[in-house]
Amino acid sequence: MNTNKALAAGVAALALSAASLGAEELNIVHGAVGKDQEVLRAALDRFEEETGHTVNIVSMPERTTDQFAQFKLWLSAGSEDIDVYRLDVIWAPQLADHFIDLTEPTADIIDQFVPAAVQSQTVDGKLVGLPMFLGAPALYYRADLLEKYGKEVPSTWAEMTATAQEIMEAERAAGNDEMWGYVFQGAAYEGLTCNAMEWIASNGGGHIVEPDGEISVMNDKAIAALELAASWPGNISPPGVLNYAEEDARGVFQSGDAVFMRNWNYAYALVNGDDSPIKDVVEVTTLPAGDSGAGASILGGSHLGVARYSQHQDEAIELIRFLNNEESQRARAIESSRPPTLSALYEDPEIGEKQPFIPLWKPVIDNAIVRPAAPTKTDYNEVSSEVWTAAHDVLAGEMDAEAAIGRLNAMLNRLRGNNW
Ligand code: GLC
Repeated sequence: MNTNKALAAGVAALALSAASLGAEELNIVHGAVGKDQEVLRAALDRFEEETGHTVNIVSMPERTTDQFAQFKLWLSAGSEDIDVYRLDVIWAPQLADHFIDLTEPTADIIDQFVPAAVQSQTVDGKLVGLPMFLGAPALYYRADLLEKYGKEVPSTWAEMTATAQEIMEAERAAGNDEMWGYVFQGAAYEGLTCNAMEWIASNGGGHIVEPDGEISVMNDKAIAALELAASWPGNISPPGVLNYAEEDARGVFQSGDAVFMRNWNYAYALVNGDDSPIKDVVEVTTLPAGDSGAGASILGGSHLGVARYSQHQDEAIELIRFLNNEESQRARAIESSRPPTLSALYEDPEIGEKQPFIPLWKPVIDNAIVRPAAPTKTDYNEVSSEVWTAAHDVLAGEMDAEAAIGRLNAMLNRLRGNNW
């Protein structure tokens, strides 16, 4: 037998033994940005090799708001087609009933995970998702341009606005007509809720709905925060920002056409990637402060749940444990700059060397603001939709901030009724 034939026979024998050991075909659904899909595929290849199972990726649109609508359709139909869902951190309270309780299947490893992440996935004592990666947005900035114009890294939104304007105008005057000051996520979807909550919280205007369920949005600090943001589109931000999600903002910034960007941590690996035109001139810092005196970052992240309707629950559990083990999380942190959910990896020397912001970012993640998904329970999606609608109307100049906050307050009170 020549080598190829021997190899083929070996592979066939392996496949046979895997099949006889109960090799299954699994489907995992997720919405990717940046390098997520490529990094997931590499981990799935390792899983397939180790276990003999096959795993297909079902890709979703980029915006989590669009994913949520599709996931709800599959889940309410009890679809057996998807075994594992990659869930946004905010969904556990709304979708808990559709997933198996992971408490027992992960009891031996759960202590290694960041406690707040586990907490976010626990609904009435049931562990809905096994934490996969965390997120807390950063202000990305062009260190070269700040240096060129002798500007400090801004620590307040007012400073960011002024510096963005000044550098943008100077660069344009020098012939760089495509230059903008600030890009962020201004489209009407969950990403804008995150931005708006950051503006408001950092200005001392509270968390819209507080952890105890109290609606706190009707206040002057919240109004002032939206007013400042409304001054950006068409001035320091492109008019198109009203339809930007994460990857739109990154596209402009990474092409070299913006001084500042608000984005999640995945963008770090990409803007510093070998093919990035701004590699080596980008830095990150914490989001600017308003009247509160401190910046506020929203807690993001994605976690893995096993659908109750899956016909392969044991293998699906094996899969989510594998995707969140140390090796998979290290690869994800290094390749796609996704902050890990295993506490020990924040001290991992290899991650620290290849993605130096990750160990530094632990306090930002620990202090990140949690969206009111837990107190508003099954209403969170509607709450968020009211928030992004109000913010979008103000950014688009269709409503003034005070009227939009007043309407938001009324809508939230109506949604809550007597209690959430
Ligand atoms: C990121 C975050 C997620 C958030 C979304 C908003 O994907 O991980 O939590 O809801 O951005 O666009």
